[in-house]
Amino acid sequence: MTVNFGEFSEDGREYVIHTPNTPRPWINYLTNGDYCALSSHVGGGFSFFRDHRFNGVLKRDLQQSQNDLTGRFVYLKDEESGEVWTANVHPIGKFDTFEARHGIGYTRIKSSYNHIFANLRYFVGPEADAELWTIHLENRSHKTLSLSVYSLAEFSLGNISLYEGDVNFHSLFNKVEMNEYGFVASHNLWFPKYGWSEDSHPWKHRVFLTTTQRPDKITTDRSAFFGPFRSVVNPRGVEGEYLPQGSGGCTELVGVCQWRIQLAPGAVWSVNEAIGMYHASAGKEPQQIVEKFQFSTTYENSWKAHNEHWARLLSSVEVETPDLDINIMMNVWNKWQLFVNFYFGRAPSYFHKGQYPGMRDCCQDVFGVIPLSRDLAKANLRRIGGFFFRDGQATGGCNRIGLKEDPSLKVDLPLWFVLAVADYLRETGDIDFLNESLPLMDEGSSTIYEKMIMGIERIVRQQGPHGLPLIGKGDWNDAANAVGEKGQGESVWLAEFLCHVICEIAPLMHLKNDAAKLIFYEKRAKELKKIINAQCWDGEWFVRAFRDDGRPLGVKGEKEGYIWINSQTWAVIADIADAERLNTCLDSVEKHLGTPYGLTNLAPAYTKYDHTIGLITGFKAGWKENGAVFSHASSFNVVARAIMGRGWDAVDLFRRILPSSKESDHYLVEPYIYSQFCAGPDAGAAYGQGAYHWLTGTAAWMFRAMTDYIIGVHPELYGLRIRPAVDPSWKSFTMKRLFREATYMFRFENPDGVETGVRQIYLDDQLIDGTLLPLPTQKQHHVRVVMG
Ligand code: GLC
Repeated sequence: MTVNFGEFSEDGREYVIHTPNTPRPWINYLTNGDYCALSSHVGGGFSFFRDHRFNGVLKRDLQQSQNDLTGRFVYLKDEESGEVWTANVHPIGKFDTFEARHGIGYTRIKSSYNHIFANLRYFVGPEADAELWTIHLENRSHKTLSLSVYSLAEFSLGNISLYEGDVNFHSLFNKVEMNEYGFVASHNLWFPKYGWSEDSHPWKHRVFLTTTQRPDKITTDRSAFFGPFRSVVNPRGVEGEYLPQGSGGCTELVGVCQWRIQLAPGAVWSVNEAIGMYHASAGKEPQQIVEKFQFSTTYENSWKAHNEHWARLLSSVEVETPDLDINIMMNVWNKWQLFVNFYFGRAPSYFHKGQYPGMRDCCQDVFGVIPLSRDLAKANLRRIGGFFFRDGQATGGCNRIGLKEDPSLKVDLPLWFVLAVADYLRETGDIDFLNESLPLMDEGSSTIYEKMIMGIERIVRQQGPHGLPLIGKGDWNDAANAVGEKGQGESVWLAEFLCHVICEIAPLMHLKNDAAKLIFYEKRAKELKKIINAQCWDGEWFVRAFRDDGRPLGVKGEKEGYIWINSQTWAVIADIADAERLNTCLDSVEKHLGTPYGLTNLAPAYTKYDHTIGLITGFKAGWKENGAVFSHASSFNVVARAIMGRGWDAVDLFRRILPSSKESDHYLVEPYIYSQFCAGPDAGAAYGQGAYHWLTGTAAWMFRAMTDYIIGVHPELYGLRIRPAVDPSWKSFTMKRLFREATYMFRFENPDGVETGVRQIYLDDQLIDGTLLPLPTQKQHHVRVVMG
């Protein structure tokens, strides 16, 4: 039986959770794009500024996905009876009523216990790098109560690798200046590496905690607050009489504020608390920054500005299909997830300790955001463009705090940049962007265009034994890292991807009059297609790669991993073969990799470590890249299905990938955002369990799969190409989309219930020829598309 833990609010803008006891902490990200706070539905979580590895603020519990034992907890104590509970419900767990609402960048929790109603709100406002908490209480009992209210935050400042390795040593470097409303803390040990380094100096940021009501006590000493042999479930500072005032001790830094209040029947009480960053570059004294957070109006103004900001950003694209789940996802949650990915790359989630914001991932996140905000996308492309080397190599990571990075051995990375820039240029027509010069990681600078070309050059001229590009230390599939480590292994997927990227850059090369090079690239693409068809076709699907010793990977007859997904999907996207073969590829994918939740990466999963393939074979069978239902790769396949005009198939797969289509009591993770994968059929009883939530390229590809390939409005340099591929039961659907300063209102009609094909297109009531809408001539255009 499926348990109902929550549902979307009617307008889809909130996910409402009815119980604190969800199968996993269900989280949200609260952010202004710089300061980032993760918050579970019970207020667990941690925070950081821009880069979690180097700018930690609130501390993370290493088992957060299960225990959720650090966070923004509010303890309440009845001073008469001595009873203690938490307004968040967890970690103590006592409650009469509970409701949590995750919205766009905020989390609210309403709970009650013994007639005390609590209302908590957490968000990060746009104008300051601070998380803002509001605690509101109401006494609905018949007697006046003496309560103590305690807010608890635990800190891990700066470079968290040290904290994770040696917490007490790390804590020795904290310095705290107390004031009546809170404190300002600094940290005197920081180094620009993840892992210990001698190259240290004080962290340049400071962190403040302040409140709108002077607390009766403030303590920053963790051991004094918790007491020995205790934890967040029973802190001595709350349960006992004794809570020390001030800073002291050499244990970790906490921020605990205590307010003693009297609440008459019916009376309410509120306090706001801010925890945020003071940047030395602001040129002000910390106190000046902090003071404004001692006024409640700051919090309310910030709340208003926050909501307006996101409503504006999310409104650039809106769809209405006959499927409500798709609409909610597309119009609200997918977009929100996209922005979280866009700002923080593969930062920490509750499952993953987090890594650097990867080049490949960042480019795909930009690709997702382009239709929503060209300005943000452009700024990010500029930033990413700074992570290239003269020879066309790219770094693995694109950090946001100005650190140097080394070249990566993942061979596909530079090509993702080409894909994202080409898409940005189609969206904006901002061709001059190609001429912008950006510094190189090694020395000198090069233009955006040169970076794109150099990235292609690296791969286009390589030829392994079959004439395909070398796979080196891995391509899209991070965990297939040993296939070509000896320098001979080749990637079929990379060959396909390269062909696609050459198509993407071709119109730009025309504009740059780079004809000779383009002819060479196109010749190479033709050659690659020939090789792939002649040497990599296994009868019903394409081989995935060739190992160093020349043996193919992903072929019939292998016991494990006989079919891999991406070399089928990208054969379609890159138009590698004739339609019959491409359709056979899609059929094979569904037949061998199809599950009710999406598609697995490969089948069957590997059960023994194989040194000729790599890490992927070390994962448990059915998990991660080793045969899990991998949402990211599945979302590429939605695109491929739509390209082949298989509208029903595309929408069907889209629906299967939707988190809301899964049963929460088995799927376990959030039903309102995509997770990287759920366990595959080879995972036994765990099959279907979701994991690695939030930070995944799925967000970008699902979004674009719907807008550009299913609804089928795809920007080109000189207009919008219309090519819908839908579920034939969709009789009509609409989309609003901004394009080149104009708003387009699309209405699609499908009177004959077809899957694809366009009979007529009316632009502002004028029938147009063909399927390309010309560039806009006014601020708003109405487009009616009749399918058939
Ligand atoms: C993760 C990585 C992504 C990679 C994929 C497959 O999602 O972030 O870069 O392509 O796994 O390995």
